[in-house]
Amino acid sequence: MSDVAPYAVRDGVAVITLNNPPVNGLGNALRAGIADGLRKADADPAVKAVVLIGAGKAFSGGADIREFNARREKPDLPDVNDQQDAMKKPLVAAITGFALGGGLELALACHYRIATPKAQLGLPEVKLGILPGSGGTQRLPRIVPVSKAVQMMTTGNPILSEEALQLGLVDEIVQNGDLLDAAVVYANKLVAEKKPLRRIRDMSAKADVDFKKIREDVAKASRGYPAPLEIVACAEAAVTKPFDEGRKFERERFAHLMNTTESKSLRHAFFAERQTSKIPDVPEDTPTRAIKKAAVIGAGTMGGGIAMSFVNAGIPVTITDATQEALDRGLKRIKENYAATVSKGRLKQEDMDKRMGLLKSTTSVEEAARDADIVIEAVFERMDVKQDLFKRLDAVAKPGAILATNTSTLNVDQIAAATKRPQDVIGTHFFSPANVMRLLEVVRAKKTGKDVLATTMKLGKQIRKLPVVSGVCDGFIGNRMLEKYVQQSLFLLDEGASPQQIDGALSKFGLAMGPFTMYDMAGNDIGFEIRKRRAKERPDFVYGKFADRIAEKGWFGQKTGRGWYRYEPGNRKPIPDPEVDKMLADYRKEMGLKTRTISDEEIVERCMYALANEGAHILEEGIALRASDIDMVYLTGYGFPPYRGGPMFYADTVGLDKVLAAIERFQKGYQGAQWKPAPLLVKLAKEGRRFNQ
Ligand SMILES: NC(=O)c1ccc[n+]([C@@H]2O[C@H](COP(=O)([O-])OP(=O)(O)OC[C@H]3O[C@@H](n4cnc5c(N)ncnc54)[C@H](O)[C@@H]3O)[C@@H](O)[C@H]2O)c1
Repeated sequence: MSDVAPYAVRDGVAVITLNNPPVNGLGNALRAGIADGLRKADADPAVKAVVLIGAGKAFSGGADIREFNARREKPDLPDVNDQQDAMKKPLVAAITGFALGGGLELALACHYRIATPKAQLGLPEVKLGILPGSGGTQRLPRIVPVSKAVQMMTTGNPILSEEALQLGLVDEIVQNGDLLDAAVVYANKLVAEKKPLRRIRDMSAKADVDFKKIREDVAKASRGYPAPLEIVACAEAAVTKPFDEGRKFERERFAHLMNTTESKSLRHAFFAERQTSKIPDVPEDTPTRAIKKAAVIGAGTMGGGIAMSFVNAGIPVTITDATQEALDRGLKRIKENYAATVSKGRLKQEDMDKRMGLLKSTTSVEEAARDADIVIEAVFERMDVKQDLFKRLDAVAKPGAILATNTSTLNVDQIAAATKRPQDVIGTHFFSPANVMRLLEVVRAKKTGKDVLATTMKLGKQIRKLPVVSGVCDGFIGNRMLEKYVQQSLFLLDEGASPQQIDGALSKFGLAMGPFTMYDMAGNDIGFEIRKRRAKERPDFVYGKFADRIAEKGWFGQKTGRGWYRYEPGNRKPIPDPEVDKMLADYRKEMGLKTRTISDEEIVERCMYALANEGAHILEEGIALRASDIDMVYLTGYGFPPYRGGPMFYADTVGLDKVLAAIERFQKGYQGAQWKPAPLLVKLAKEGRRFNQ
């Protein structure tokens, strides 16, 4: 008897159990086990019907991701489906938890489906840039209305069993009792009542949609992603072609999508996300500290958002600020933020009340910190202020409390040195708005304890962030790379590109927004301060000077209604500003800069390779654990398009030899001395290798 697919006979019904924890992924062994079970059931005259059921909490989550890049062995899922179709005895899928992807395709090739009330059924393949490749696109539109099938497959979102029942995707919901008992009874009833073998492949899909319109809608919604349109084409084939032809078409389109850069990028991101929590010298069983209560120091922009992230996850927080006035302002902003979500219908009033109930406030740092298991500091970005605060925290925090700083640029080792417990100090670099953005850079200082790191990573997930480990350096992973990107964006202005052209080229590439729109959103005063500081600290790091002129005018961006663009009151849409164009032309003349026509392609290359090259330095220095961590930083914190996989993966896709050749070309151009190819890039390019192995 196979462990992954145990076979048993109960009351004349063969029961094949999918037993491949954690989600009964349909790996090589499980598929072979199911095929074996079906053969046995077919051959045994005492067996009248067959039930497929999942062990544990779910039916099946689909393909086994652990075997994603491994060789597929026979039988593959379509082979198993063919065997299901050839069965002469009724096949029942008994679904609890979820039947997703290949899991649902397996269930669709059964004759009947029963489910528990909260079960989820879906085909989420589109999220990895592919389509259901084992008959899903052909069977689903034959059993539910085509429009619904298209919606399920192009969004990838599952439906609940209640809706599935109404649609006919599920035949019965098992409200109470044991699912297996109910399935055996159900199967015997099918036999007793001589119900037909309902093969979905023999049904016909009736179009309730105008495919031309659907294609238009889907094309609009799926900017940059080829899979949704391919799914529509497959659904259309389900309507217009016989089953076998439709399935052949599906296989072709599936194979095509598997080879697209978009799908490779999305699959990379899927695995990259799962890698981030693996820290080589901090094993997964490292004991963690219990975090039941938090304190946030500083109720400004970041402190408020950080406090919200904690209460959103049900962790009580005490927030504090230096003055009652600042504290009140912070609390008011939190309240307004929640109220806006409630008024949009995305949060229930009672949930807002619950969250606000978990939030306490005080103007005493000592009172806030005294009984907290973690204290997160988000005060002004000044070393003296932070060190002074950490000394005070050291004096009152309980032993074993984690002391975290949200600094974006200061040295965490120096902050830790202000305390007598540097092992408890760590950086938690949130991104603005902190209650929304998923990225959390977890900054491991020299003396940070392993258990403190493990606890913070776990806590990060608990508050629904994506924690990525970074070593200590100026700007950590994300902002350190961004500086090189900013540098190129300003050089491009000097050379003749306009802010609109640069923004346009990079948003066409897929970034959520171009650099100048981003500067206006973040506030041009911030960049101005950084550049002034850099001029003193690192005079060799050159910036184009035009940005200073915008900041000197007090055009700080959205918050002042004017920056690189103009803004109408209450509207964030950037409007090109002819005055900026004129100032830029005057500036170039004054500086004696020669302009030229710059292609969109060059803009993308310069900005992207600047990121990847700095990423290579970061990897080499061990600041990031792996290239895919850098990719996750950009995918979750900087609006990098998932279908490009992140800056390092993008460079891999282009080919590191080509990236290096381009950088060598840039070295001969304007401000070429600012380009220094990272030794790691040079080495990998020579060896024909990639950042992401
Ligand atoms: N704004 C961002 O986008 C961003 C992003 C990541 C990290 N950060 C970092 O987060 C920290 C806070 O930034 P912010 O934008 O929220 O600043 P902010 O000016 O909006 O808020 C800082 C708050 O800290 C309070 N404060 C100052 N000293 C204090 C003290 N000793 N005790 C108690 N409260 C004190 C101030 O009154 C103010 O309300 C900084 O270290 C910053 O570098 C900011």
